[in-house]
Amino acid sequence: MNAIDNILKRNSPRELIAPHPTEEEMNIVFNCALRAPDHAWLRPSRFIQVTGDGLVKLSKIFQEFARDNINNLNDTILEKYRNAPFRAPMVIILISNIRIHPKVPEIEQMLSTAAATQNILLALNALGYGGIWRTGKFALNEIVAKYLGLDDNQKVLGYLYVGKTSGSLKKIPQLDISKFVQKWS
Ligand SMILES: Cc1cc2nc3c(=O)[nH]c(=O)nc-3n(C[C@H](O)[C@H](O)[C@H](O)COP(=O)(O)O)c2cc1C
Repeated sequence: MNAIDNILKRNSPRELIAPHPTEEEMNIVFNCALRAPDHAWLRPSRFIQVTGDGLVKLSKIFQEFARDNINNLNDTILEKYRNAPFRAPMVIILISNIRIHPKVPEIEQMLSTAAATQNILLALNALGYGGIWRTGKFALNEIVAKYLGLDDNQKVLGYLYVGKTSGSLKKIPQLDISKFVQKWS
């Protein structure tokens, strides 16, 4: 696929099935992730690749987090969280390892990980896989890192659900770029 089509045709699928990418393919994907723009080359991005029994571990962590931190939890909601990691054969936990730096504030380091995440989605698409970035209750808060065994300076930016695309994909809308772009000349 040519590079522009790879960007224009990427589609975040809601249904993802086995197989997940091979180790060789994931090496390509993570090398692409690490080519994201990165002020002062701080290398803030970290990833946890979760498959197999790792998904069971993640499910237990989601349930423990929910029991401790979510108000008005009932069995239906807890079951939803228990099942969440099994929506795809692979989950990649997206982490920004924040360092104190005189020129690179925390937001820039998190933006670098966001750019790395888009590189992952594009690399997966080029290799014939789909991915969807999800956040929900288990990301972008100060508490979840501890449950995942991370350090205090590590921020969880979300979870990429990865696999082969299944089911029908949404139609990608044609947007009118003039509504989004100003031109100064
Ligand atoms: C930071 C971030 C968090 C997101 N969190 C969720 C989420 O929790 N649940 C969800 O259904 N979509 C979430 N999305 C949106 C999907 O990843 C996806 O972008 C959206 O369904 C549109 O599909 P598209 O990427 O094919 O345009 C999130 C996107 C971003 C950038």
